[in-house]
Amino acid sequence: MSAKMDSERSTYGAIAGTLVRPQTASASASTATVLLLFAFVAVASLQIATWKPFPRWTSVTGNRPPEVSESAAAPEDPRSCGGFFEGGAARRKAVKSIREFGGVGDGKTSETEAFRRAVRHLRRFGESGGSQLNVPRGRWLTGSFNLTSNFTLFLEDGAVLLGSQDPEEWPIIEPLPSYGRGRERLGGRHISLIHGDGLTNVVITGQNGTIDGQGKMWWELWWNRTLNHTRGHLLEIMNSRNILISNLTFRNSPFWTIHPVYCSNVVIKNMTILAPLNAPNTDGIDPDSSTNVCIEDCYIESGDDLVAVKSGWDQYGINMAHPSSNIIVRKVSGTTPTCSGVGIGSEMSGGISNVTIEDMHIWDSAAGVRIKSDKGRGGYVANISISNIKMERVKIPIRFSRGSNDHPDNGWDPNAVPTVKGIFISNVLSLNSTKAPELKGIEGASFEEICFKNFTILGLAQSAAWHCELVSGYANGVFPIPCPEQPGWLRALLSMHENEHDWS
Ligand SMILES: *[C@@H]1O[C@H](CO)[C@@H](O)[C@H](O)[C@H]1NC(C)=O
Ligand SMILES: *[C@@H]1O[C@H](CO)[C@@H](O)[C@H](O)[C@H]1NC(C)=O
Ligand SMILES: *[C@@H]1O[C@H](CO)[C@@H](O)[C@H](O)[C@H]1NC(C)=O
Ligand SMILES: *[C@@H]1O[C@H](CO)[C@@H](O)[C@H](O)[C@H]1NC(C)=O
Ligand SMILES: *[C@@H]1O[C@H](CO)[C@@H](O)[C@H](O)[C@H]1NC(C)=O
Ligand SMILES: *[C@@H]1O[C@H](CO)[C@@H](O)[C@H](O)[C@H]1NC(C)=O
Ligand SMILES: *[C@@H]1O[C@H](CO)[C@@H](O)[C@H](O)[C@H]1NC(C)=O
Ligand SMILES: *[C@@H]1O[C@H](CO)[C@@H](O)[C@H](O)[C@H]1NC(C)=O
Ligand SMILES: *[C@@H]1O[C@H](CO)[C@@H](O)[C@H](O)[C@H]1NC(C)=O
Ligand SMILES: *[C@@H]1O[C@H](CO)[C@@H](O)[C@H](O)[C@H]1NC(C)=O
Ligand SMILES: *[C@@H]1O[C@H](CO)[C@@H](O)[C@H](O)[C@H]1NC(C)=O
Repeated sequence: MSAKMDSERSTYGAIAGTLVRPQTASASASTATVLLLFAFVAVASLQIATWKPFPRWTSVTGNRPPEVSESAAAPEDPRSCGGFFEGGAARRKAVKSIREFGGVGDGKTSETEAFRRAVRHLRRFGESGGSQLNVPRGRWLTGSFNLTSNFTLFLEDGAVLLGSQDPEEWPIIEPLPSYGRGRERLGGRHISLIHGDGLTNVVITGQNGTIDGQGKMWWELWWNRTLNHTRGHLLEIMNSRNILISNLTFRNSPFWTIHPVYCSNVVIKNMTILAPLNAPNTDGIDPDSSTNVCIEDCYIESGDDLVAVKSGWDQYGINMAHPSSNIIVRKVSGTTPTCSGVGIGSEMSGGISNVTIEDMHIWDSAAGVRIKSDKGRGGYVANISISNIKMERVKIPIRFSRGSNDHPDNGWDPNAVPTVKGIFISNVLSLNSTKAPELKGIEGASFEEICFKNFTILGLAQSAAWHCELVSGYANGVFPIPCPEQPGWLRALLSMHENEHDWS
C-alpha cells in the first residue's frame, strides 16, 4: 500500500469523525441540500469503526419475486451443509465392484457396457436397502451412463474414470425445457458423462478418485466451430432430490462440470474441480433451477465461473418459472482468469433468490462476483448475501453487467427485464484489483437495495473509479468512494438515514 493511500485514508477517517446523523425524516428543501451533502460525506467515509448492521430484508415488492415457501427442509447446522442432504450415511445393502460386471480398468477397453450393466443390476436394490458400485484403482474408459436411486458410486483411491473420445458415446438428449434448445447449438444436446434423472438419494464419493472428462476434443470442436450439438456436462442430475457429491476430483469437463437442474437438497462438498484455464465454458458448479443447494470446501480452477447460479433462459425460463433459491456457496477458493468466482446468471429467467456466498478466496480472476442479466431475461435476483471474501489480483471485484445479445431465438420479449433487489455485500477485501466495481443496471429494470458495507479495495490506480449506472443502494465503510457520479446512489443513501429503523 502506498504512503499516498495511507494519508488519504486518515483524511477520510477525519471526515468520518465529524459525522452527525440527521434526526428527522421530513426534510425541507433547504435541509435536503444539507442532507445530500451529508450523504456525500457518509459515502466518502471509509473504515468507520462501528458498523451499522444491514437493514433486515423485509419483502420483495413487485409481482415477480414469490414468497419463499416455509416447507423447504430447514438446514440443521447453519455453518455446514448439514440438513441439506437427508439421505444419511446409511450403508447400502448391495455392494459390488465394477469388475463383477466385466470392467477391466486398463484405460483402453470401453467400459460403457460394464457401467450400464452394473446400474441395471443394482437398481433392483433401490427399494430394498440400496446399492453401491465401487470403482477400484485403475483407468476406466467409459461413455455416458445413468445413475439410479438409493445408490452410491464410490471411486477408490487411484480410480480414474475417463470420458470416451467417441461423441456417439455421449448420445443426444432433449434440450432442457427452461432453455428451449441446447445452450450452444439449436436442438438436442449431448448427454452428460454421468447422468441422473428423477432420482432420490444418490451419493457420488470416494477416496479422492478422479473423473476426467477428457474434454479437449470437445473444446476443439467448439474452437474450430465444428460442434453439431451442445457439449455434455461431466455430471448432470435432473429432477432429483437428496444428492451428495464429495471427496473427489473432477477434471476436464467438456462443458459445465457439475449441473444440478430442477433438483433440491444437493450437497457438493470437499471437491477439487480442475480444467485448463483457457478451456471454454468449463464452469465448476452450476446450480440451475434448484433449491437447497450447499456447496462447501471446494477448490476450483477452470476456464469459466467457479460457481454459476442459473434458472433458465429468456422466454423458456420465464414460462417454466422454476427458480433457484436457498443456495449456499461457502469456503470455495480458486481462480478463473477470464470469468468470475461466483456468477449469478446470465440465465436467470426463472428467478434467483436467497443465495449466501461467504468465506471465499479468489485470485487471478476477471471478477469476484458478477451478476449477469439482460433484456429478455425477465425474472429476478433477490436477497443475495456476499460476505467475507478475500480477493487477490481480481480485475473487478464486483460487477453487474448486461449481456451481449445472447438469446435462444427471436421469440424473446424485449420488455421482459429483470428485477434486482437486495444484494448485501460486506467484509470484502480486494488486493491489487485493476478496476473498481462496475455496476450497470438495465434500462427499464430496477436494481435497488444494492448494499456495500466494510468493502475495501487496495492497490487500485488512483484514477480507477466506481462505475454505476441505473442502480441504487447504500454504502457504509467503502473504499474507494462508491458511485461518485450517481445521484440515485446518494438519494438512496439519504433514504437510509430517513428510515433509520430499517437499517438497524
Ligand atoms: C429408496 O429408499 C427408500 C428408503 O428405503 C424407499 O422408501 C424408496 O422407495 C427408495 N426409492 C427408490 C426409487 O427405490
Ligand atoms: C439415460 O437416461 C436418459 C434420460 O434421462 C435416456 O435418454 C438414456 O437413454 C439413458 N441411457 C441409458 C444408457 O439408459
Ligand atoms: C476431503 O477429501 C479427501 C479425499 O479427497 C479426504 O482425504 C479428506 O479427508 C476430506 N476432508 C474432509 C474434511 O472430509
Ligand atoms: C486429490 O487429488 C488431486 C489431484 O488428483 C489433488 O490436486 C488434490 O490435492 C487431492 N486432494 C486430497 C485431499 O488429497
Ligand atoms: C476440429 O476439432 C476436432 C477435434 O479435435 C478435429 O477432429 C477436427 O478435425 C477439427 N476440425 C477442423 C476443421 O479443424
Ligand atoms: C457433425 O456432423 C457432421 C455431419 O453430419 C458429421 O460428419 C460429424 O461427425 C459430426 N460431428 C460430431 C462431433 O458429432
Ligand atoms: C470425506 O472423506 C472423509 C475421510 O474419509 C470422511 O470422514 C468424510 O465423511 C467424507 N465426507 C463426505 C461428505 O463424504
Ligand atoms: C434463506 O436461506 C437461509 C440460509 O440458507 C435459510 O436459513 C433461510 O431459511 C432461507 N429463507 C427462506 C425464507 O427459505
Ligand atoms: C434472506 O437471506 C437471509 C440469509 O441467507 C435469510 O436469513 C433470510 O431468511 C432471507 N430472506 C428471504 C425472504 O428469503
Ligand atoms: C471488515 O472486513 C474485513 C475483511 O475484509 C474483516 O477482517 C474485518 O473484521 C471486518 N470488520 C468488521 C468490523 O466487521
Ligand atoms: C500487490 O502489488 C504490489 C505492487 O506490485 C506487490 O508488492 C504485492 O505483492 C501485490 N499483492 C498481491 C496480493 O498481489
